[in-house]
Amino acid sequence: MQVALARIAHGRSSKSVLMVGLRGVGKTVLLDRMREDAEAAGYRTMRIEAPESRSLPAMLAPQLRLTLLNLSRVEKAKDLAVKALRGLAGFATALKMKYEDIEVGLDFEPEKGLADNGDLEHDLQALFETVGAAAQIAETILAIFVDELQYVAEDELASLITALHRTSQRGLPVVLVGAGLPQLAGRMGRAKSYAERLFDFPSIGPLSPEAARIAVEKPANDEGVSFEQAALDKIIQKTQGYPYFLQEWGKHVWNAAAKSPITASDVDAASQSAIAALDESFFRVRFDRLTPSEKKYLRAMAELGPGPHRSGDIADALERTVTSLGPTRSSLITKGMVWSPNHGDTAFTVPLFDEFMHRIMPDADWRRL
Ligand SMILES: Nc1ncnc2c1ncn2[C@@H]1O[C@H](COP(=O)(O)OP(=O)(O)OP(=O)(O)O)[C@@H](O)[C@H]1O
Ligand SMILES: [Mg+2]
Repeated sequence: MQVALARIAHGRSSKSVLMVGLRGVGKTVLLDRMREDAEAAGYRTMRIEAPESRSLPAMLAPQLRLTLLNLSRVEKAKDLAVKALRGLAGFATALKMKYEDIEVGLDFEPEKGLADNGDLEHDLQALFETVGAAAQIAETILAIFVDELQYVAEDELASLITALHRTSQRGLPVVLVGAGLPQLAGRMGRAKSYAERLFDFPSIGPLSPEAARIAVEKPANDEGVSFEQAALDKIIQKTQGYPYFLQEWGKHVWNAAAKSPITASDVDAASQSAIAALDESFFRVRFDRLTPSEKKYLRAMAELGPGPHRSGDIADALERTVTSLGPTRSSLITKGMVWSPNHGDTAFTVPLFDEFMHRIMPDADWRRL
């Protein structure tokens, strides 16, 4: 990412980066670190998190406004930044009919004909061009950091891709750094077939056993505490190297152990409290947002194991047809609970969710629920 930003700062082209991975692998941590680094390098950044139910223009507009107000304080960039603020005024006003959730302060009168068609694809392109021109003359770049990008509607994603394509073709210094669940890559491709030429999709996964060991052991060592090898092996096995789980196990084993070195039986005690804590928070918040039929669908997947699973096998486990389960599967994808690694396959987006489903719905006849 540092190389990509430096290339763009030198007026060269570079692909935007969209990190994809399951829940709790560290995408947000990485995104924020990249943003800090970008700020430290003197670039302009914006940070947006896409919630499930807000439109892209509503998310972008207030952040763009702040960025532009900031740029307008750079003497050379003032005129173009003000022009872009006029563009933003036209953009927000024209799209207000369609996207009622747009709320943004208007500092200047709209400029007739600038980003005010009322068509998102067209207007976002025009807006990004003026914003890019302002950043260019200010001799900086604008890096837009968007988390949870999989929640953005496909037609809005398409507009975003088109706008970035345009700035990239014109050599303007605007770049997107995004993060999302694994379904993001497919959504981008469906939104615009040329998306793969504009973006890299590095996949973020669990840590290797060696990296997981360091993540747990080093902070303890720094406090003068060590681990028995068997204790570390057990933590790595229980967490499967997923960063968020390593963090939880690290915390609970630290509290459970009476003295150094930390032993395997300390880990056993910690596992119980770590799992209880995860069940109450990490897993539970997701489970509580599900309808009864969605819960049953996920329970059927868990019955088959960690996955991915064929849609036909899930349907068989539920004694239903694949077609009749289509709507349930779609709504689970929309909620970000499952994704499709390959056509006809379904996998959990939350690591170890299958084990949780067994714990929360242990009833032998959950099918009749
Ligand atoms: N590099 C890291 N150093 C320390 N802790 C980390 C690191 N990466 C991840 N973690 C731990 O894992 C947790 C989850 O990371 P993060 O929130 O970035 O995951 P995520 O991939 O964004 O998950 P989600 O899809 O649920 O948003 C963090 O709160 C932190 O506890
Ligand atoms: Mg995150």
